[in-house]
Amino acid sequence: MSDGQVTERHQKLQRHLQALVPGACLQAQAPPGIPELPLWLLGDIRSGTRLDSDCAAALMETPPYWSFCWASGQVLARWLLDRPALLQGKTVLDVGPGSGVVALAAAYAGATRVLACDIDPQALAAVQLNAVSLGLAVELSDDLDACLKVADLVTAADILYDRDNLALLARFQRAPRVVLADSRVRNLSAPGYRRGDVMDAVTWPDLDESREFNRVTLYHYGS
Ligand SMILES: C[S@@+](CC[C@H](N)C(=O)[O-])C[C@H]1O[C@@H](n2cnc3c(N)ncnc32)[C@H](O)[C@@H]1O
Repeated sequence: MSDGQVTERHQKLQRHLQALVPGACLQAQAPPGIPELPLWLLGDIRSGTRLDSDCAAALMETPPYWSFCWASGQVLARWLLDRPALLQGKTVLDVGPGSGVVALAAAYAGATRVLACDIDPQALAAVQLNAVSLGLAVELSDDLDACLKVADLVTAADILYDRDNLALLARFQRAPRVVLADSRVRNLSAPGYRRGDVMDAVTWPDLDESREFNRVTLYHYGS
C-alpha cells in the first residue's frame, strides 16, 4: 500500500466513524496491556478517556467494533506476544479481528503467516490500516472455511457476544490448536475446550463497561 492509499483508508474509516459520532476521529494509541502495538482506535471525543453514556449508546447501536481494542483482544494479544516460540513456523488464523489486535500480535511475535477473517469489511480495512502502520503482514479474508484449511492455530477474542458464534467453536477444531478469549459467556463449556488463565483488562478506549466484562478467560483446544 502506498502512503496515499494509507491516508485514503484512514480517512474513509474516520468518515465512517463520524457518521456515527460527530467529531469522532481515529488516533494511534497503544492499549495499556500491549505497548508494542499502537493501533488506530477511536480517539477522545471530549476531554477524558471515557466515552460519555450518550456516545457509548450511539456507538453500540451499530457498533464499529474495529475502532476499539476489546479486553479479550488485549489479553489474547499479550498471551501471544509472550509466547513467540509457539508461533514459529505456524500459520495463525484470527477470527473476528476487529482492529486486528490479535492477528497483529501473532505477526509481531513471529508467526510465519497470519490470516484475519471478519464478516465486517470495515474491520478488514482497519486490520489492513493497522498492519501497514506497524509494518506487519496480515492477509485478509471473509472466507472462514478456506482459512481453516491452512490454519495451524486459530485465535478468536470477544466474538461470543453473538451467541450464534458458539457454533463456530466446533468448526475451529479443524485446526490442531485453538485459543479463545472471552468475557461475555459465563462458564463457557464447549466440547474439547479447557479453561485456561483468567486475566483482567479494560476495553480501549474505555467504554466503562460492567466490571464482569473486564474479566477475561482463555480457553484452549489441542496442544
Ligand atoms: C467485539 S469485536 C472483537 C475484535 C477483536 N478480536 C478484539 O478483541 O479487539 C468482534 C469482531 O468479530 C467480528 N465477527 C463477529 N462474528 C463473526 C463471525 N461469525 N465471523 C467473523 N467475524 C466475526 C465482528 O465483525 C468484529 O469485528
